[in-house]
Amino acid sequence: MSKWPEATEERARAIIAQYPNRRSAVMPLLYLAMSEEGYLTEAGMARVAELVGITPAQVLSVASFYTMYKLEPVGRYLISCCTSISCMLLGSDDVLHALEEEVGVASGEVDSEGLIGLEHAECIGACGGAPAMQVNYELIEGINPEKARQLVEWLRKARPEVVNTDEMQSLFGGRPSFDWAITEDVGAVGPYPAYEPFGTVRSSTE
Ligand code: FES
Repeated sequence: MSKWPEATEERARAIIAQYPNRRSAVMPLLYLAMSEEGYLTEAGMARVAELVGITPAQVLSVASFYTMYKLEPVGRYLISCCTSISCMLLGSDDVLHALEEEVGVASGEVDSEGLIGLEHAECIGACGGAPAMQVNYELIEGINPEKARQLVEWLRKARPEVVNTDEMQSLFGGRPSFDWAITEDVGAVGPYPAYEPFGTVRSSTE
């Protein structure tokens, strides 16, 4: 299996070094593999297997279990609309329908340009700010159908290099769960979690 670019290989080594047993690094390394190609390819999973010393089948068993690991392209911007109970009671079905109309695809699909993917998600842990959704796993709370449409339009026009919870919340969000969360100054750069070991998020307090 060919290696990743050196900068990615260096990140992989740094992630592995955080664990007493290298196979414990399989999950963050899968996100790193997604950051290389936008989703988990066979080659990416093979590299993870090689780095942590397990078989590709074992890596696939992890990757295929968790819905946040993507085995197919999901677009540059992945919109995840929560439709679990708290959000459903506060109108998330209408939000999802508005998103489907505005993006022009059904949940689970990607637009023809490969720019925006849409999925409905189980509870994303923001019930206090329901209805909630995410773009590239960056959270927006208190969303409504009209704001969701405006968000899609903004993604198409602005095509931000990074998406950031604080920016999207101020532009399109409503009532959040809390008003004291630490602000982010970078955000997520791909359709995978903004996860510190990748350097995609740096707290503004650092
Ligand atoms: S039910 Fe939607 S965030 Fe929990």
